[in-house]
Amino acid sequence: MKGTIAVLPGDGIGPEIMASAVRVLDAINKKYHHTFETRDGVTGGVAYDKFGVHLPEETVEMCKKADAILFGAVGGPVSDQESPRWKDAEKNVILGLRKKFNLFANLRPLKVWPGTEIFSPLKPDIIAGMDVLIVRELIAGLYFGPMRRYEVDGEITAEETSRYTWKEIASVVRIAFVAAQKRRKRLTVVDKANVLETSRLWRDVARSLHTEFPGVEMDFMFVDNAAQQLVRSPASFDVIATDNMFGDILSDLGGAVVGSLGLVPSASINDKKFGLYEPAHGSAPDIAGKNIANPTAQILSLAMLLRHTYDLDKESGAIEGAVLSAWKAGKKTKDLAAKGEASLSTQEFTSCVIERLK
Ligand code: IPM
Ligand code: MG
Repeated sequence: MKGTIAVLPGDGIGPEIMASAVRVLDAINKKYHHTFETRDGVTGGVAYDKFGVHLPEETVEMCKKADAILFGAVGGPVSDQESPRWKDAEKNVILGLRKKFNLFANLRPLKVWPGTEIFSPLKPDIIAGMDVLIVRELIAGLYFGPMRRYEVDGEITAEETSRYTWKEIASVVRIAFVAAQKRRKRLTVVDKANVLETSRLWRDVARSLHTEFPGVEMDFMFVDNAAQQLVRSPASFDVIATDNMFGDILSDLGGAVVGSLGLVPSASINDKKFGLYEPAHGSAPDIAGKNIANPTAQILSLAMLLRHTYDLDKESGAIEGAVLSAWKAGKKTKDLAAKGEASLSTQEFTSCVIERLK
């Protein structure tokens, strides 16, 4: 198969872990006789230095010509968020791309592979069998409603609005139902319907769509309880559908439960098989350039890209299998190694994955 993938490494550890994913793509090209090509684009701080903006038109145009975007990470150090180079970098790039390409659904698989229970801070018997897919709405809600800051009687006040249409909710809940149908056939809609009107609308939409998916068992859960259950009994969930803000928080919580955000890939997709595939973690400037970052989430994001955009289940499964086999052989980057245990560099771990692909 032929194809063009836009590669946006971004800032911090982005370029290092992207180099790993591109090496894995080369190995897939060779092994399965594909000719996937990559085109590099700049975003974030690097783009700011060159073009004075975080998401240059050149990069967007290049992405439009590609089948999918493989994205690294953007953003600067926490201590330097106010400098123009970094101010709003993540918002401008990530939210910008999500909106421009209508990437309304975000899929974050939180899976504890057999044998990797020890990566989790939870007890092995609690974590065993965890395999959750969070389907998060991505281009509406609190993130994209009107926001402003103003003064009332000399008091500085800020506000934003969470707004959802029936259609916006239905498109993402449908994706969650379809995913559940192919998995363990359970969907949990997470909301705050005891307080919020948007959540009540989510419930109405979900009940209405449920009639099309009678084989899927559906329930509702308040978000505070869902956070608790994700820690107490993570293996009890199959698919979770939720709004933009709740999904943001629960997916980081889920990443921590799995063991490290460095393990969690994600796909942000539209209705045309186009997607932006990125690690769920950020640019980690504190460890950038040291060749110690865990490239797993980036490599697994490539696996998601091959599966969702190109329908290449076999290739995608081979990458996942190779990562798992590397872990089982005790090959780990520093974030996963126990105190005093030996660890591999980013590129050494990547080589171990590639060896297992051949
Ligand atoms: C994520 C990130 C982004 C979000 C930030 C960087 C804007 O946390 O993808 O989860 O909040 O969506
Ligand atoms: Mg987040």
